Amino acid sequence: MNTYSRIIGTGSYFPEKIMTNKDFEKFLETNDEWIVTRTGMKERRIAAKGEYTSDMGAEAARRALDMAGVKPTELDGIIVGTFTPDTTMPSTGCRIQDKIGAGHCFAFDLSAACSGFIYGCNIANGLIRSGSAKKILVIGADNLTACVDWRDRGTCILFGDGAGAAVLSADLEPGIRSIHTYAAGEHGELLKQDNLGTKYLRDLRHEPIEDNMIKMKGNDVFKIAVRAMADAAGEAAEAAGFSSEDIDWVIPHQANMRIIEAAAKRLNVSMDKVVINIQQYANTSAATIPTALDQYVREGKIKKGDNIVSAAFGGGLTWGSMSFTF
Ligand code: UT7
Repeated sequence: MNTYSRIIGTGSYFPEKIMTNKDFEKFLETNDEWIVTRTGMKERRIAAKGEYTSDMGAEAARRALDMAGVKPTELDGIIVGTFTPDTTMPSTGCRIQDKIGAGHCFAFDLSAACSGFIYGCNIANGLIRSGSAKKILVIGADNLTACVDWRDRGTCILFGDGAGAAVLSADLEPGIRSIHTYAAGEHGELLKQDNLGTKYLRDLRHEPIEDNMIKMKGNDVFKIAVRAMADAAGEAAEAAGFSSEDIDWVIPHQANMRIIEAAAKRLNVSMDKVVINIQQYANTSAATIPTALDQYVREGKIKKGDNIVSAAFGGGLTWGSMSFTF
């Protein structure tokens, strides 16, 4: 009998502090109207002093485990999609393992920027389907505001902090139906950060470090992203055999409202079926998809049996998509 992997619990966490578009007007030549029209974003969350990627990830993980009815000690592994680890060693995965009391399952970080959650699900799905694991926690968590350049209006307005998590479990019913992941290293310079752990950046340095700031050629990335996200979303639907009528929800990475609209158009799906939280949280990198999923599950909009198509795109450049039945 076939073993599938299915998402049996979701969780998310956002820091309390809100930064609005208006707040940027105080120190940058920008305005609410430009940001809303070009991106769809209205506000984003900022991690508190002493609050790091592993803290946000651990809280999202606790909520996902609680929904799944799974004890931390039952986990076979923890995969954390992040490019803003507290420190490069120990990994955020190991820190979260300790914080939630997960026992000695495997734990590691996966660096695929905004595509980290889909990359993580791909690995978890493979391990579960091959029989190597039964329950894996996949987390997407990022503390982007620790490494944005607050002088660059083309990037700092785009990002926020947050974490989302999902428990993937072996199941006889199909959950995940297709996953595809891609990378194009030759375009790596278009969106980059020469990383140091965020704990170092926030605690030990009190002046900006140029090399550690996120740098992006926004318009070049936009052109590649819009096509890659739409193609990946189409591929996910086709691989699952979902027609546009079969799709209950589309969960795109929340980088730009115009990219989201292009993905919905490619799938021939109306915007009321598209899960969007970009207005409230902006781009939280690997956290956008699991947090949006969790929000709609908890609001009772996404229900068991719903067919979902999800697609992500990010630094690397990386992208990917997955289709699943919740
Ligand atoms: O999640 C990872 C993947 N990331 C993405 O997918 C992001 C992809 N890129 C984008 O979403 C868009 O390129 C941005 C939202 C970053 C920028 O939008 P755009 O329509 O591509 O604008 P642009 O970079 O071509 O800039 C247009 C103008 C420029 O002024 P000039 O040269 O025409 O005078 C910019 O300097 O808008 C200016 N501009 C701003 N003006 C007011 C750039 N940022 C701002 C700002 N406020 N915050």
